[in-house]
Amino acid sequence: MARHDKSVGLITGGIGDLGYASAKKMVEMGLDMALLDIKENARRVDALREKGARVLYLQADVASREAVQGAIERVWAEFGRLDVCMCNAGISMNVPFLEYTVEEWNRHMDINLNGYFHVTQEVAKRWVDGGHKGKIIFTGSWVQDVPYKLIAPYCVSKAGVWMLARCAALELAPHGITVNAIAPGIVEAGLTARELRDFPEFREEFMSLIPLGTIQQAEDVADVVGFLVSDASNYITGTTITCDGGCVVGAASAPK
Ligand SMILES: NC(=O)c1ccc[n+]([C@@H]2O[C@H](COP(=O)([O-])OP(=O)(O)OC[C@H]3O[C@@H](n4cnc5c(N)ncnc54)[C@H](O)[C@@H]3O)[C@@H](O)[C@H]2O)c1
Repeated sequence: MARHDKSVGLITGGIGDLGYASAKKMVEMGLDMALLDIKENARRVDALREKGARVLYLQADVASREAVQGAIERVWAEFGRLDVCMCNAGISMNVPFLEYTVEEWNRHMDINLNGYFHVTQEVAKRWVDGGHKGKIIFTGSWVQDVPYKLIAPYCVSKAGVWMLARCAALELAPHGITVNAIAPGIVEAGLTARELRDFPEFREEFMSLIPLGTIQQAEDVADVVGFLVSDASNYITGTTITCDGGCVVGAASAPK
């Protein structure tokens, strides 16, 4: 196969709101894209193609190592390369700690944490084998470091993502592979948009946690992803860029 001359990005959960905003950013930066997701959205895939990108849609469950292996094989079959890998697929729910079932707990870990491990390891093995340097970006969350009520397994999975980024960064750095996380705050999109639809009473409390005073937009997250994709971030690895409008400090000073 002739070597694909454009850089290629892979985003898991790429059909979802933050994944899609990040895909748009990468396409604007000149990348071709692979979007891996459990659900389909042809309109979003077509919209990226209309911007001039080659886009491969991969339906796969990140919780399954076999499904991830198959999807990543297809990326190499289609493009012959990968340059940026963003692990982003995630779920959340609102349940009191005492009421979470073991199945719900495990599902969070399988998707939000183990899914990142499956994708990162499979991609990094190929990069190391091929002597290719690449960038891995994790979508973490401000709650990776701040306990929050009703979302215990989500917080635990995101804390795991943060440590996974640092451990992987340490071992992959000698191969020229960087691993960083981005920690968004409370975004009017995706998981939180659905939460606000189901629990509109949460909005006031959420707003009280955001020192910058406006709720975050998916594009605010994509801008930071763009920085991590760009050469300006080449010397950064093993860290989290928190872009949360100040939620972490807001939560620390909120009245109890
Ligand atoms: N929305 C927020 O306020 C917010 C804040 C901080 C972090 N995040 C993180 O951003 C990421 C994206 O979330 P979002 O808000 O865009 O939600 P979203 O629901 O719009 O996107 C998540 C995507 O992941 C996909 N997905 C779920 N399970 C999957 C599986 N097993 N295999 C493959 N794909 C699967 C979904 O189909 C969906 O397209 C998540 O990791 C989330 O934790 C979101």
